[in-house]
Amino acid sequence: MEKTFLAIKPDGIQRGLIGKIISRLEEKGFKLVAMKFMLVSNELAQKHYGEHKEKPFFKGLVDFITSGPVVAMIWEGKDVINALRKMMGKTNPLEADTGTIRGDFGVDIGRNVVHGSDSAESAKREIKLFFNESEIISWQPEIQKWIYE
Ligand code: RTP
Ligand code: MG
Repeated sequence: MEKTFLAIKPDGIQRGLIGKIISRLEEKGFKLVAMKFMLVSNELAQKHYGEHKEKPFFKGLVDFITSGPVVAMIWEGKDVINALRKMMGKTNPLEADTGTIRGDFGVDIGRNVVHGSDSAESAKREIKLFFNESEIISWQPEIQKWIYE
């Protein structure tokens, strides 16, 4: 089973969307294995978005992600990295399909509500940046046999 990192960004928190976003992932059948409500430090933000360091939107992105609390999570399941990217929708919410989180809840590219790892390497890196091994819970949902063949 794969793991991925998902964060609800400060806009999602301010807009009261924590419950709705988590519900979608629970209802899909994925398993939550770690979660914290936290502030992202400038140092962590710079590391997390390091791939965008040279981009014109980098400073705005770091300022935004450090501007208020986020919910950082690890979700586990079959092909969960790709699946959550699909459930999030395209980066620009106006281009994201209806039915996706960004398509349903966002308008502006700089206020797109959620972050999700975009590859196995990013997932591994981001999980390590945000969580200690001891914060990741191994558990068996009783419902699992009704989700997986
Ligand atoms: P994320 O990393 O947040 O999950 O988003 P993503 O993979 O869909 O998009 P990415 O290319 O990694 O960009 C990271 C975040 O930077 C902001 N952005 N602004 N103004 C712009 O042209 C622009 N491009 C990207 C977005 O908030 C995006 O989520
Ligand atoms: Mg990205």
